[in-house]
Amino acid sequence: MVKAAVLVSGGGTNLEALLKAEEEGRMPSLHIALVIADREAYALKRAADHGRRGILIERRAIGMKRFSEELLKTLSENGIQMVILAGFLSILPETVIEAYKDRIINIHPSLIPSFCGKGFYGLKVHEAALDYGVKVTGATVHIVNEIPDGGRILMQKAVYIEPDDTAETLQRRVMEEAEWIILPQAAEMIAKEIENESR
Ligand code: GAR
Repeated sequence: MVKAAVLVSGGGTNLEALLKAEEEGRMPSLHIALVIADREAYALKRAADHGRRGILIERRAIGMKRFSEELLKTLSENGIQMVILAGFLSILPETVIEAYKDRIINIHPSLIPSFCGKGFYGLKVHEAALDYGVKVTGATVHIVNEIPDGGRILMQKAVYIEPDDTAETLQRRVMEEAEWIILPQAAEMIAKEIENESR
């Protein structure tokens, strides 16, 4: 079984979906061994409620260089083989991307290549989709490389925009109808690949 870490910055509903999937036996190839937050986040409480280890490495307090060092050290000391970004809002340090090449996945709340890249995160993504006037949006899980939201796409799911949607209602529907479904599925897919490679 692959040991995974989930990196978070906020409410942690995607983390909750992952923990639920593991507990219900829908991710048999991985175990969420660690949750790491880059700032005070409700997601850490969710981790504790599920009996998982949570670690806070406050990026703003220690600066990017030390954050990178601490993060890499924590991952390797805990034998982490795969990293899942679930609402993680810092840019991931290059050292981590290199150390975990093809073993880091991210959930993004749009159909990449629309509304993605630098500056597109959280509600801003949904505001941009509504401002543009697209009628279909969704979520994407992709491999993380050095280009923000630019790595290989693993899964996507479309969500229709309703005429009376606000950024908030759209965010919620994209989570419910797309993110919470495809993130556990893609995580299981990559964990299975890692297991097969090490056989
Ligand atoms: C989610 O919608 C996630 O897709 C998004 O932040 C939200 C986190 O919610 N991530 C990004 O925008 C990354 N570019 P959560 O903390 O409840 O999972």
